Amino acid sequence: MIHIPKSEYGRRRKALMAQMEPNSIAILPAAAVAIRNRDVEHVYRQDSDFQYLSGFPEPQAVLVLIPGRVHGEYILFCRERNAERELWDGLRAGQEGAIRDFGADDAFPITDIDDILPGLIEGRDRVYSAMGSNPEFDRHLMEWINVIRSKANLGAQPPNEFVALDHLLHDMRLYKSAAEVKVMREAARISAQAHVRAMQASRAGLHEFSLEAELDYEFRKGGAKMPAYGSIVAAGRNSCILHYQQNDAVLKDGDLVLIDAGCEIDCYASDITRTWPVNGKYSAEQKAIYELVLAAQEAAFAEIAPNKHWNQAHEATVRVITRGLVELGLLQGEVDELIASEAYKAFYMHRAGHWLGMDVHDVGEYRVGGEWRVLEVGMALTVEPGIYISPNNQNVAKKWRGIGVRIEDDVVVTKTGCEILTKGVPKTVAEIEALMAQARTQAA
Ligand code: GLY
Ligand code: MN
Ligand code: MN
Repeated sequence: MIHIPKSEYGRRRKALMAQMEPNSIAILPAAAVAIRNRDVEHVYRQDSDFQYLSGFPEPQAVLVLIPGRVHGEYILFCRERNAERELWDGLRAGQEGAIRDFGADDAFPITDIDDILPGLIEGRDRVYSAMGSNPEFDRHLMEWINVIRSKANLGAQPPNEFVALDHLLHDMRLYKSAAEVKVMREAARISAQAHVRAMQASRAGLHEFSLEAELDYEFRKGGAKMPAYGSIVAAGRNSCILHYQQNDAVLKDGDLVLIDAGCEIDCYASDITRTWPVNGKYSAEQKAIYELVLAAQEAAFAEIAPNKHWNQAHEATVRVITRGLVELGLLQGEVDELIASEAYKAFYMHRAGHWLGMDVHDVGEYRVGGEWRVLEVGMALTVEPGIYISPNNQNVAKKWRGIGVRIEDDVVVTKTGCEILTKGVPKTVAEIEALMAQARTQAA
């Protein structure tokens, strides 16, 4: 299995600590276990920030970084080993494992945190934490601070500055290392394979969930624990619902099916969309819209390189799509005016992409100092233009209504442009039709 090497977590902690102010402490909690219903839990997914700095996969843990602390800079509070619980729920690292396998300098039972953490905070000037994202943890933090305050008359020094950790940490997460790109390539490879399998399985009469099952099969077979987000399998007019997740409609002859799905490997997401005809052959209108979206995506790739700014790719898609919609008679007027008045938004209402990483909509600022962010090597993003013609759009001829097309790939910025991570899925009309025809011949 391809994964982030342990040494990288240490490098990340060092890099974060190097940016923290002197005499400070950073405190981050693991994700809580989410209850699905009664005593059934959702599959556990570690908090991305916590995972980024620790690689520690367990709940009920708190990571503490104290740059320069003589007795160890990295402290992990985690569950104790417990033969009875481990018999039911699985192995735990325990404090020994936290030190031996996860690089902690010091580890304590999570049940002792109220006794120990106030002492670690005491005397530090600043506390870095992800304020606001976990209200329960924020409350605990204030309780620990109040313990120190209550001892002020004994000389205890509570911190007087609270700093949002997000700014430092999320900027680090925006730049992907070689190891991260490697993991993202693997997530992309498996997801591409899943889309190929769904294309091959596509038949009228199946359901959207039948294709979702094909995706899930490849995800799990490839070693992914779960999809990176709820898979969208949207046939016919459902393709015009951007975040469609019902996935239970019948696939009809003559309809398109739009699949937006990607798996997660070692907490790194992939995010791919392809749109193909259920019966293996695009109609004239479907093909016209498809090729326009594809042209928009190609134009966007050309605008992704160091020193180009974040919005250039989006602007390129808007221009190509608006011009194409005019050529097809779906919009009327001057291209520049239609862009200025945002008339294209009736058909293309989302942006051309987002940062991609541990979160599918990854962290990182899109603007810096009021300006669009300039792209740099190692930034990973999606490129996903789309056109969605509402089934209720009375301004266009009936033959166009209900067509929804999105094409989405994942890229990482390189020195000379960008590397497309998700090349493993066919994309042109000819390639997709050929793959689907071949699958039908083999099945017959
Ligand atoms: N799947 C969510 C997105 O494409 O942004
Ligand atoms: Mn996306
Ligand atoms: Mn997507």
